[in-house]
Amino acid sequence: MERRTILITGGAGFIGSHVVRRFVNNYPNYLIINFDKLTYAGNLQNLTDIEGKSNYKFIKGDIASEADVDKVFSEYAIDGVIHLAAESHVDRSITDPMAFIRTNILGTTILLNAARKFWNGNWEGKLFYHISTDEVYGSLGAEGFFTEETPYDPRSPYSASKASSDHLVRAYNHTYGLPAVISNCSNNYGPNQFPEKLIPLSIHNIKNSKPIPIYGKGENVRDWLYVEDHAAAIDLIFHKAKPGTTYNIGGNNEWKNIDLIRLLCQIMDRKLGRAQGESEKLITFVKDRAGHDLRYAIDSSKIQRELGWKPSLTFDVGLEKTVEWYLANEQWLNNVVSGDYLKYYEQQYGGR
Ligand code: NAD
Ligand code: DAU
Repeated sequence: MERRTILITGGAGFIGSHVVRRFVNNYPNYLIINFDKLTYAGNLQNLTDIEGKSNYKFIKGDIASEADVDKVFSEYAIDGVIHLAAESHVDRSITDPMAFIRTNILGTTILLNAARKFWNGNWEGKLFYHISTDEVYGSLGAEGFFTEETPYDPRSPYSASKASSDHLVRAYNHTYGLPAVISNCSNNYGPNQFPEKLIPLSIHNIKNSKPIPIYGKGENVRDWLYVEDHAAAIDLIFHKAKPGTTYNIGGNNEWKNIDLIRLLCQIMDRKLGRAQGESEKLITFVKDRAGHDLRYAIDSSKIQRELGWKPSLTFDVGLEKTVEWYLANEQWLNNVVSGDYLKYYEQQYGGR
């Protein structure tokens, strides 16, 4: 098998850690460099099972620092970038947009500049793969789906910053010929998701008999995809997509938030040995998110048709697996909630 050195940014986060694990385990001839700033969302305890592998290397670095990015490009002959590092939480973008501008726009541009500079027109075997979101397309009414041709209409500081980064990636492809691909995915769920996001937050609160906050009336619709199915799609796109292309990835699995939380409550009651209906009593309707997008739904027929990808898990199975993971990995969740996970880098890698 061909030798390659792949820089995965944001590999200590939720989706990034599943992508790093998949590549380290499936491609022993690749050197996988996980480049991550370790913000509050970066957790190296997501990767304890692979951290000793010889084809894996962690580097602490900031994509918005030209010095950090140039250092890794000059020390390693990188031939592929899978770019996941981002500020990812919509609510945080509403209270602190600048962190999103810095990492998602400036950071992506610094990475593009480094790829352009170090690859220097020698594009053979090179690829810059940018991971993005369906939120760039805006919000749907009751009908319709986002396709790869849907015009961009981002409506939160998060989605505007991701849309901006997508445009920059396309501009570098068009203007300089930098070989680049983009995928836009719907909501992911599964193990290792930071408990600020709807599903892990609700699992944590149900377990601890705390209120489950539902924004507005819980009528907003999201299309949910199991994180390992997203990682499988990323693997396929990285290896098979033509530079200059875009793929939408989604679960074909739409749920109103309130219906999803009711299903989750039923699973939790069963797993925790509570009477059915017990956990639902924790549902608490709270003030709506500012500018809350009503509905996202992805048409993923292009990746299904061209690359043969489809989701492998039904939502019932995926959600049950997810609940089982959080209940079996109480220590992971406790370390996140207590902040102990932030000490792991120093303890294990001796760095600050
Ligand atoms: P996450 O918040 O769990 O992880 C983000 C990671 O990026 C963390 O490890 C963090 O430390 C790192 N990071 C942040 N700023 C950095 C910087 N300046 N330099 C280097 N590293 C930095 O995010 P996630 O949910 O895993 O999302 C990963 C990517 O996928 C993001 O680009 C996001 O926009 C996209 N995405 C997410 C979803 C979803 O449902 N979570 C869906 C579609 C697309
Ligand atoms: O669609 C892809 C996007 O999905 C990704 O690009 C983002 O990185 C990711 O965070 C996610 O964005 P959402 O805003 O959809 O995810 P979140 O889990 O924050 O919210 C899901 C839905 O649940 C949304 O309609 C808001 C609602 N919600 C969320 C939280 C945290 C609540 O009702 N209560 C809550 O406490």
